Amino acid sequence: MIDQWGRKINYMRVSVTDRCNLRCVYCMPLQGVTLGPHHEYLTYEELTRVIKAAVELGIDRIRVTGGEPLVRKDIVKFLAQLKPLGVKDLSLSTNGLLFPKMAKDLKAAGVDRLNISLDTLRPDRFTKIARMPGSPADVLAAVDAALELGMEPVKLNMVVIRGWNDDELADMARLTLDKPIHMRYIEVMPFSEAYTFTWENLVSAAEMRERLLDEFGDLEPVREGVKGNGPAKYWRLPGAKGTVGFISAVTECFCADCNRIRLSADGKINPCLGHVHEVDLKSIIRDPSRTDEDLKNALADAILRKPREHNFDDLESDYKLRVMHGIGG
Ligand code: GTP
Ligand code: 5AD
Ligand code: SF4
Repeated sequence: MIDQWGRKINYMRVSVTDRCNLRCVYCMPLQGVTLGPHHEYLTYEELTRVIKAAVELGIDRIRVTGGEPLVRKDIVKFLAQLKPLGVKDLSLSTNGLLFPKMAKDLKAAGVDRLNISLDTLRPDRFTKIARMPGSPADVLAAVDAALELGMEPVKLNMVVIRGWNDDELADMARLTLDKPIHMRYIEVMPFSEAYTFTWENLVSAAEMRERLLDEFGDLEPVREGVKGNGPAKYWRLPGAKGTVGFISAVTECFCADCNRIRLSADGKINPCLGHVHEVDLKSIIRDPSRTDEDLKNALADAILRKPREHNFDDLESDYKLRVMHGIGG
């Protein structure tokens, strides 16, 4: 499908739960999170129905997100249903903690690749940022498990926050010297508790690049790209097996190339991360008088009406009311 701004929309991010086994400062509030009763969330059958409609509209890249997708019961059985629907690229965004023991089953279910959050290599900081038990070593075990199974490319996501972890940019980049992984630095977006961070906490992708250049002397642009559907731009340290990527979500709008929509766990389509406008599919799905055709039309309408771009620099805008764990990044 082509939206009103001429962009081809072929990628859907599907959040299967807003629950998570971590409480990262930039994503999920520590207290006061109201998680809804189970019937508020789409069942796997309902999620599959939406994905089927999306595939018929030309969406063949699905990323399953959360919260943490691996905490939802029977996730493997759900994932195993997606490739047969016509999904060509099936990926997961995960914090990795539960991955090693599920790795083989996830691969067998058709998961092609993973993006794994890792914000720090220091155990004490892990607990400060993620605010739950866990450690960088646990996350790196997930990276190794994915590599061993050939679930590549493996990407790491670091949300960079000045004063919290920005002194680790180079240490993180060094991980790419020996492992064929893709280390992505993400500008913190002003949602949820992240909204309580000030602009001072934002490290721009331009500054991150400069700091890596100072440290390593050279960064070679990766022209052939890294398999993926998202907005990262990639570079390589001299002699490295992997790459470093930057996701300039705030300072360099990549909206002109946007190819995606988001489905939330409670059945709403978010046409754009930077606007609160949503389209409720659950009411259609649960109305016995509405057909698959009605569902497809509602989805097509949501795609058509995608806004042109986000407005993160407008601090008075409505997007800041969002909490990331309900959207899946
Ligand atoms: P691939 O490129 O397919 O590997 O995936 P991805 O980079 O789109 O997925 P991932 O879930 O790892 O997202 C990485 C970061 O990019 C997260 O912080 C997302 O919130 C952010 N991101 C992804 N899509 C968008 C977008 O459309 N707009 C903005 N502002 N940020 C996005
Ligand atoms: N700003 C930038 N990235 C975020 N993510 C979650 N919340 C934010 C935020 N406020 C990232 C996570 C995860 C991805 C799916 O979204 O780090 O890797
Ligand atoms: Fe696309 Fe909206 Fe993201 Fe911009 S903010 S890249 S328009 S989803």
